[in-house]
This record gives sequence, structure tokens and C-alpha cells, in this order.
Amino acid sequence: MNVYLDNAATTPVAPEVVEAMVPVLYNNFGNPSSTHAFGRQAKALLENARRSIAQVLNCAPSELIFTSGGTEADNMALHAVVTQLGVRRIITSAIEHHAVGHTAEALKTHEQIEVVYLTLDAKGNIDLQELSTYLQEGVPTMVSLMHANNEIATLLPLAEVARMCRQYGAYFHSDTVQTMGHYAFDLAALDIDFITCAAHKFHGPKGIGFLYVNKKTRVNPLIHGGSQERGLRGGTENIAGVVGLAKAVELAYTDLAAHQAHIWGLKHYMITCLQALFPDVLFHGETSYEKALYTVLNVSLPATPKAGLLLFTLDLKGVAVSGGSACTSGAAKGSHVLEGIGANMNRPNARFSFSRFTTQEEIDYALQQLQEVYQKNL
Ligand SMILES: Cc1ncc(COP(=O)(O)O)c(C=O)c1O
Repeated sequence: MNVYLDNAATTPVAPEVVEAMVPVLYNNFGNPSSTHAFGRQAKALLENARRSIAQVLNCAPSELIFTSGGTEADNMALHAVVTQLGVRRIITSAIEHHAVGHTAEALKTHEQIEVVYLTLDAKGNIDLQELSTYLQEGVPTMVSLMHANNEIATLLPLAEVARMCRQYGAYFHSDTVQTMGHYAFDLAALDIDFITCAAHKFHGPKGIGFLYVNKKTRVNPLIHGGSQERGLRGGTENIAGVVGLAKAVELAYTDLAAHQAHIWGLKHYMITCLQALFPDVLFHGETSYEKALYTVLNVSLPATPKAGLLLFTLDLKGVAVSGGSACTSGAAKGSHVLEGIGANMNRPNARFSFSRFTTQEEIDYALQQLQEVYQKNL
């Protein structure tokens, strides 16, 4: 049996998404910038997709800029505020995805801005009081904090941080790459400056995503070139990708409550089974439905002499999960997220992440293999 429990890394493409994309690849090869019928047809697909995504997120279609995915979208937001909007301080955390963390550090070096890392508790939560204190200092600021952490699942109180940023006049960017497709967004009500999306995290294709830019916030392109995306992102558009992205959004949100219930049910089941199998099991990050992304479970397992081979052994048994890092030297070493929350690096760690296609039978199989690894000391 092969069991894929690494959906935070990427997800299988939904069959309906493939079905939506294939005819586009065959028939709609026109360049949307061309004025002839082939171009107009492609342009119509592009704008229909933009409209349908905007409708789901309750924003204006013009607030969505298609990008090559989450990394580019994060880069664009951070570069824009520093190089165009006068931001001199980025307030962020040590557990952001590298698309944000490394970009902030690069801007610190090249643009001489200040990067402030908020204090985190052991589960990866920020201290809102500390954030408020920084915001009151009056430095032109952008706050960049991810909606849910991709390794430990901890959720940010997004609306509360958005309100605080507005109150003190700071820009707010949230990397929503792990939560887009998994939570409803009402962008008209949220009043945030930037959020980001990567289609491949919710059964869409790779290499396509978007940056949402609130219409109150004016930015220039990161990728210079033609006048695509209203001059905000040069490059001939990935029409099949955009159509696939729109389909993935539609599928994710049509039955959102059912997906949420199914996936949370599996995660809760896994937590309960792990606690029964390993009395001293621990979990990194928050685990409750209210405080954690329901698709991700980060497990700290009992120490074993073969800890470094745990994920490799599971892989040999057909169970794909990920760890703190790809390193084999042992346990959690290498994860800036686990390091950022001061996790115990001497115990092996595994991140299980689920999708709406995951079944209880698959969870049972994974648990059985995990138990065998420990029982037989594999
Ligand atoms: C939280 C987060 N941000 C950004 C990214 C980058 O997205 P992409 O792979 O589409 O560039 C990822 C993907 O791993 C992610 O999990």
C-alpha cells in the first residue's frame, strides 16, 4: 500500500482540475495579449478565472495578480512595501516560510531595513501585546506573519492582527499558502493588504498562484516585462494553470465544510491513536481545531536509536511523510521552525499532513507501520 501523508508539501491534482486544463492546453494556445480571436479566447479564460476566484474570496478581480506560486507572491509583497511604499521595518517571526524569511533578510541587507522577530511561545504563537508595542513606535512598518505554519500548524489570529495593523497604520501581509482552499476568506471584511496563494497546496497545478493586493494599496511589479496583469507582472500568462487554479478554488470551496469535517476527523483520530500507541508522544505546535490548521499534525515521537532512519523506513513501507528537514542525521535537526519554538531536537519528529482524499484506512496503515518500526526496532 502507498500512503501519501505529505499534503503540506504538495497535493495530488484533482481529476476535475486535470479535466479543466487539458482542453485549454489542446485548444486555447493563444496569447492573451494578441488581439485576434485566438488571443481574445485565451484572455476570456484568464479573466473568467480571475472573476470566479475573486467571487469566492469576496474581493475585486483587479485585486488578484497571478504569479508562479507562493514564493513569487510573497517576494512581490515584501519587495513592494520596502522599495515602493517606504517601509523601514518588517515585523515577522522566526518560523515563517523561507519565501518570507529569506526575502526579509535579503531586504535587510540590500535596503538597510530593520527586521524584527516577535517572541514566540513553545507552540509558535505570537504575543499580541508585544506586536502592539512595536506598532506604537511609529516606524513605517509592514507586519508579515503567516496564517498557518506549514510545519507545526499553529494558526495566527488573522482578523485581530489585521485590525491592529490598521489601527497603527502598518501594512499587513499574511502568507496564506497553507490556508487558502482550507478556510473561507472574506477579503472585503478582513481588510488586509496582501495574501498569497499556491494552487498546488489544494489540488491545483504547480507553478501557479496569486498575490492579492488590497485596492487601497498601490504597488509596482516585481517581475518587469510586458504589460500583463495590468502592468503588475510581466510574462505571457499560464492560461491552463490559471484555469486549473480557478477549478481548484471552486472545488475546495464548494464543499468546504464537508472537507473540513472529514480532514479534522482524520487528524483527531490520528492524535487519539498515537496517544494510545505511544503514551509519551508529544505534538509540536497547537493541535486543537480552533488554534491549528486541521490538515497538519507534527508529531514528536519517543527517542529510538534509529531515529534518523524513521522517515526513510516509513518511506520503504510506502508511507510518505516529512520531517523537520530532509537530513538523516537525526530527528528534528535542520528545521528552522522547530528551532524557532525551541523544540526538543533529540526526539524524532514527523509531520503528517492530510487532504480531502486521505482515508481512515490510510491512516490505519501508516499507524501500523509506525508501530512496527518501534516494536521491531527497525
Ligand atoms: C507557507 C508557505 N509559503 C510559501 C510556500 C511556497 O509556495 P510555492 O511552492 O508555490 O512557491 C509554501 C510551499 O511550500 C508554503 O508552505
